[in-house]
Amino acid sequence: MPAQPPPERPGAGAEHDWWQTGVVYEIYPRSFADSNGDGIGDLAGITAHLDHLAGQPDSLGVDAVWLSPFYPSPDHDFGYDVADYLGVNPKYGSLADFERLVEGCHRRGMKVVIDLVLNHSSSEHPWFQASRTSRSDPYADWYIWRDSPGRSVTGRRRSPNNWRSWFGGSAWTWDEVRGQFYYHTFLPQQPDLNWRNPAVREALLNVVETWLDRGVDGFRMDVFNVFFKDAQLRSNPRRVGGRGAWSWQRHLHDRNQPELHDLLSQLRSIVDTRPGRMTVGELFDGMLADAAQLIAPRHLVFDFSLIGVPWSAAAFTRTLAARDAVFGTERWPANVLSNHDQPRHASRFAPPGDGAAGSTEGDARAKVAAVLLLTMRGTPFLYYGEEIALRNLSIPKAQAFDPPARRANFLFRWWNRDQARGPMPWRAGPGAGFSAGRPWLPLPSEAATRNVERQAADPDSVLNTYRRLLALRSATPALQVGSQHLVATSDADVLGYVRRAGDDAALVLLNFARRPASIALPKDGSREPWRAAFSTRDRAPGDMLGDEVALAPLEGLVATRA
Ligand code: NOJ
Ligand code: CA
Repeated sequence: MPAQPPPERPGAGAEHDWWQTGVVYEIYPRSFADSNGDGIGDLAGITAHLDHLAGQPDSLGVDAVWLSPFYPSPDHDFGYDVADYLGVNPKYGSLADFERLVEGCHRRGMKVVIDLVLNHSSSEHPWFQASRTSRSDPYADWYIWRDSPGRSVTGRRRSPNNWRSWFGGSAWTWDEVRGQFYYHTFLPQQPDLNWRNPAVREALLNVVETWLDRGVDGFRMDVFNVFFKDAQLRSNPRRVGGRGAWSWQRHLHDRNQPELHDLLSQLRSIVDTRPGRMTVGELFDGMLADAAQLIAPRHLVFDFSLIGVPWSAAAFTRTLAARDAVFGTERWPANVLSNHDQPRHASRFAPPGDGAAGSTEGDARAKVAAVLLLTMRGTPFLYYGEEIALRNLSIPKAQAFDPPARRANFLFRWWNRDQARGPMPWRAGPGAGFSAGRPWLPLPSEAATRNVERQAADPDSVLNTYRRLLALRSATPALQVGSQHLVATSDADVLGYVRRAGDDAALVLLNFARRPASIALPKDGSREPWRAAFSTRDRAPGDMLGDEVALAPLEGLVATRA
């Protein structure tokens, strides 16, 4: 595959890697753009919309795309149940379509990160189909099989231990063919692979090699901290409190095992044979401290601590302080406000009454959130649609596609992930430019007014806010790679921090309130005044800030000394 060198960018320069200076954009292939009218987004649809992302003067200006899974799959978990690690789901296109997509990204200076789902496969994967046939099959030990320890008083087969599925119920399913239980962290249709088997390890690392050979620049590793489970499969200790059966135990034995570190080193040594490649691991159900343990050179970790934060300057200040303390100056964070699993942040942060169409205040908040995401220390991961402040879809439970949403009950609380997976509205009109057919999920109800074409034409739109911010970021080394210091802002509704890289510095002030704020800036010894470089409100560029800074309601301000 022809991999062309990306064009030079200004900003932090050659001593930093793209995964550190750049911005990654997550695409959920099913929902981005449908090229053939079957209502399902596909690879050719993505390729047709790459100019939206990079390469043109009016592109968003991101540096990489992360593609959620596009492999052959029976879609019990929309591609997170892989039936062939080296193929392309015909619904999404062919390997040739994938190659065209990679070529189109590279030509525009964008890297391509693909999702690798190596904790589990689909139950339809030929490895599992072989594994279940007998205990002596060559694939017998490729999954985690155990006998039942006996029957309960009611005559039910007892499970090998007390581990739960993240998607509800026991994590063990009895297989009549093999006459044993198999283990699944997620759905029964997603059996966990046995990473302790050297043949499995070799096969999965071969998958990594193959995609590197096909020209990809990085991998997002699905739930990588559960690859290893306790070798003796000991039951987790019980725990009191929490919502739902998953939280009623301490997950000591079903994740974060010491063997993971050795595997990560091996994975890194493979990826590092090709310069400029990276990995980002999804920390499954883990805390900030777990993330810090697992960050490694050229290996980022999603810690998701930003996702739970409500619309509050004080709460974000606390979270930034906690992250700074844990990550220090050495560990590089991955920053996420939205992804394909979580409610969209434009909805999470919206004021009461924002509604499906969205309100002006909701959009003003989304702009402030964009400033935060694109200026705080770490690599920002955007989620398709957030650049137009797309809101959640509203889907009644009875019509949910998301499998855990369909299984939810009082022991198993779940949200409907469909809400974050709505078709991308490109323009007004039937199909919203997403599809000429009937979209697999309903179009967002506001598609006629909230779409890319319309926002592109409005200088004050959320989309143009993202574009301007991305341009500022890529020209400002302090924002890309600088250190981060929180500033005490004398107003509890204002979050402030300074980023510094060498002589370059940027001050970020975010007013979370719908009233003006006036804050006293602490002196920092510089003789140069701060000047506004960017604002989400009406403020003249170059505007000099005094010791007392007046912020408009919901203003996100970036100042530099240039
Ligand atoms: C995490 C993914 O983000 C999610 O969408 C998926 O359902 C689970 N892993 C299982 O692969
Ligand atoms: Ca299609």
